[in-house]
Amino acid sequence: MTKTTMTVAVLGIGFGLCVSALASHGKAKQSRKGILLVAFGTSDREAKVAFENLERLTRKRFKGTEVRWAFTSRVIRRKLAKQGAVIDSPTVALSKMHDEGFTHVAVQSLHTIGGAEYDEVKETVAKFSKGSESFDQLALGAPLLSSFTELQRLAKTMLKSAPKERKKGEALVLMGHGSEHHYSDLAYVAAAKVFGDLDDCAFVGTVEGHPTMNDVLAECKAAKVKKAYLIPFMSVAGDHAKNDLAGDEENSWKSVLEKNGIDCVPVLKGTAELDAIAEIWIDHLAVALSHLELPRD
Ligand code: CO
Repeated sequence: MTKTTMTVAVLGIGFGLCVSALASHGKAKQSRKGILLVAFGTSDREAKVAFENLERLTRKRFKGTEVRWAFTSRVIRRKLAKQGAVIDSPTVALSKMHDEGFTHVAVQSLHTIGGAEYDEVKETVAKFSKGSESFDQLALGAPLLSSFTELQRLAKTMLKSAPKERKKGEALVLMGHGSEHHYSDLAYVAAAKVFGDLDDCAFVGTVEGHPTMNDVLAECKAAKVKKAYLIPFMSVAGDHAKNDLAGDEENSWKSVLEKNGIDCVPVLKGTAELDAIAEIWIDHLAVALSHLELPRD
C-alpha cells in the first residue's frame, strides 16, 4: 500500500481541511494543515497570558488552521499534569497530529534564541520528516532572535513599550535567559549592543549566560544610574522574572542593584505579551507555512 492510499483509508472522505488533488491511482488525496506552537513552557498562571496572546494572534492571522501546543520542558509538563493540565511534548503532539490525519504541519518555536531547546525541537521535526510517522510536509519556524534586523525590531519595540514615567538617566535592565554551553548565547551579547546603540541606559544581562548580572551592574555604576526598571527579556514573565529578577532573595537582581543604591521597579511582562514582538514569531510561522505546499485542485 502506498503512503497516499493509506492516508485515504485512514481519513475517510470529508475529514481534511483541504480535500482535493488527485493523487496517484486516481484517488482523492486529503490534506490537513495544522500549526504546532512549541514553547519552553510555564506553570505560572499569570505568566500564561503571554502564550494566550501568541495563540490569539496566531489564530487571527491564520484563520481556519488548527493550532496546537507543546512544551519542551519536562519539569513544567510534569508540574502542570499534577495540576490536571496536560500539555504534550513536541514528540507526543506531532504523533497525535499524525494519527489524526494531519498531512502538512508548521511547527513554530517560541524560544527566544536558537539554543539547546530549539535544537531539540529541530531533532524532533527531523524525526517526523521520514519514516512511518512522517508527514507529507513539515516545516519549522525560526526562534525570535534570528536576524540582526529582527533584533533591531525587537529592541525598538521593547524600548517603545518601556514605562512612560521613566526619566532620563533611569535604566532599563533586561534579563534574558542565556545559555552557558550553547553558542547561541552570543545573541544576548548582540542584543546588549543593539539596545545600547538605541538607548544609553538600556542594559541586557542573562541568568545563565552572557552578559552576566555583574556586567549589568558595572554598566549601571558607570552610568551612575539611580533607578532601574527591571524587565524580563523572555517570552513569559515566569519563575526567572519573578524570583531571579524581581524577587526579594539576597541574590536576585533587584536585591543586588538595590544594595548598590539603585532603586528598582520590576515590570513583569513577557515579550510575548507585546503584540509587536509576538508578531515576529508569527512572521516566522508565516514563512514556515509558506514552505508547506498543499496539493492544488
Ligand atoms: Co531557566
